[in-house]
Order: sequence, then structure tokens, then C-alpha cells
Amino acid sequence: MASEEVDRNRRRFLTGATTVVGGAGLVALAVPFVSSMGTSARAQAAGAPIEVDISLIQEGQRLTFEWRGQPVWVVRRSQRMIDSLEQIEGRLADPESQQSTQPEYARNRYRSREPEFLVMIGICTHLGCSPSYRPQEGAAGLGADWLGGFFCACHGSSYDLAGRVYADQPAPLNMEIPPHMFAEDGQTLVIGEDEETQTG
Ligand code: FES
Repeated sequence: MASEEVDRNRRRFLTGATTVVGGAGLVALAVPFVSSMGTSARAQAAGAPIEVDISLIQEGQRLTFEWRGQPVWVVRRSQRMIDSLEQIEGRLADPESQQSTQPEYARNRYRSREPEFLVMIGICTHLGCSPSYRPQEGAAGLGADWLGGFFCACHGSSYDLAGRVYADQPAPLNMEIPPHMFAEDGQTLVIGEDEETQTG
């Protein structure tokens, strides 16, 4: 794909992000960002951590939030999806996440604190497009051996359901995991903050 087209895709994303932080009145228009679940537009604009009620996320569902102008995905993985992460490891460039950016507690097979929940910045590590979520096994166009994951149509990079990139792809790294933690109530996921970064 021509680089112009990539730029256009990227601009489209940036325009969407700007819309979200531009004012609460515009949030409802900013599909696919979900910005009203326990967080305020003002907190987002300041780059503050955001809170997500995880009970609202269905098994297999991926929701998108905005944090610091970037899309952050939260995926509630099913047991089948969790099991796929081991099955796929022989096909990945960096299955142990040695090269990629994530907090230490996410340097594991699930790239998360809890296997059930993936929290990830939804930006391809090649040239910054936002990949699509393709959770189904054998999804159309991705091959019978596809176990579910993310596909970046800009130049054809595939990632598994933990954002680990397949071997021999244009994208060089696994997608980035932001700081995150679960609040004591067990229901609230905090994105953008963890024990290391907490200030108060
Ligand atoms: S931006 Fe090139 S493959 Fe994703």
C-alpha cells in the first residue's frame, strides 16, 4: 500500500482521537471509542488514568478506550482464546516479549496481569495503523489455521490474541501494553497507572 494511503489511515485515527478529547458533547460520535464508562472527558484530555468497569465487557468482546490520544483495547478472552496463546507460539517472532514494550508483569504468555483480560495499545508497530480485531478461528481471508488475533490491513501484519506479532511480518514488534492494574473491588480496571507509576 502506498505510504500516502497509510498516512491517510493514520490521519483518520488521529482525527477520531482529537474528536474524543475535544469535548464531552462529541464523545458519542466518536465511534469506535467508548468513552463514557466511568471516565470523564476532562480526565482523558489531561492524560489521566481511566477506569473501566470490567463487568460490562462480554466474553470474547473487545472494547476501545482513549488514553493519551491513543486507542487502548480491552479484550475479555474466552478459555478457547487463552488456550490459543500456547498453540501459536511456534509461529511468532517474539513469543516471550523480549523485544517489545510492556510492564514487567505483562512479560508473559498472556501479556497481561490476568489471562482473561488483555489491555493493549491498538497501534501496529510497523507504521502506526490500527489493526482490526479478528477473534474467530479460521476467519475469512486469514487462513484455516488462523486462531484469532489482530490483522493490520495496511501492509498485512498479523498478531495473536496477546498482540504478539507473527514471524516474518512487516511489523517488527509485539504491540505495546500500557500500565494497568485492577482496583481492590475486583470490578474496576485502571488504565494508565500501576503500582510503579501511582503518584498519590
Ligand atoms: S502499519 Fe504496516 S502493517 Fe501495520
